Amino acid sequence: MIKPLRIALTKGRLEKKSIELFEKAGYDCREVKSPGRKLQLNMDGIEVVLAKASDVVTYVERGVCDLGIVGKDTIMENGGSYFEVLDFGFGKCNFALAAKKNSDFFKTFQDRRVATKYVKVAKNYFDKKGMDVEIIQIDGSVELAPLLGLAVAIVDIVETGDTLRENGLEIIETIAPVSARLITNIGAMKTRRLEVTEIIKRLEACL
Ligand code: PRP
Repeated sequence: MIKPLRIALTKGRLEKKSIELFEKAGYDCREVKSPGRKLQLNMDGIEVVLAKASDVVTYVERGVCDLGIVGKDTIMENGGSYFEVLDFGFGKCNFALAAKKNSDFFKTFQDRRVATKYVKVAKNYFDKKGMDVEIIQIDGSVELAPLLGLAVAIVDIVETGDTLRENGLEIIETIAPVSARLITNIGAMKTRRLEVTEIIKRLEACL
């Protein structure tokens, strides 16, 4: 028996919109919408797993999942070998450099400590500018770092801007736009081309 195609969806922010898109494309999403504690779910004969963003990339790159939906932020930070085939246009936000209001980050040459969850994105950004900064990795609520004096600026994703505003921070520079992407395993694009492209076409038609 041919094993079902397997798709990894990112839990959390992108989950609802991803499922809505499959539903719009005509897939039966009843089980995926009410997963309970179940980790492997059936969506019209396709197996769906719900995972953390960075794990979605790992699963697709390693071929245990044929497709995945993940944010461009995770793709930029993690890199890896897979195809990025669709930009869904939801989950929109921006990578940005932010600091305390009126802090003039670029003019302050003494202190260049920058906190972020996205070490690689931050490093690439400052490398391109030819700026030597100390990057400090933080795993959540990065906005705390300048408030606590751990760093003078942060590189983070900004969606509504509310978190920055409510904590007295402001964007210094926007780095890159982010949105949800469909990625596919490289091998699956060859060995299961028809099934994979059918999913891509059905989703694309709904955008
Ligand atoms: C993200 C990001 C910001 C916030 C931005 O954090 O790291 O903190 O969302 O959103 P806003 O511009 O709409 O306020 P997330 O909620 O994913 O939690 P985390 O900080 O624990 O990673």
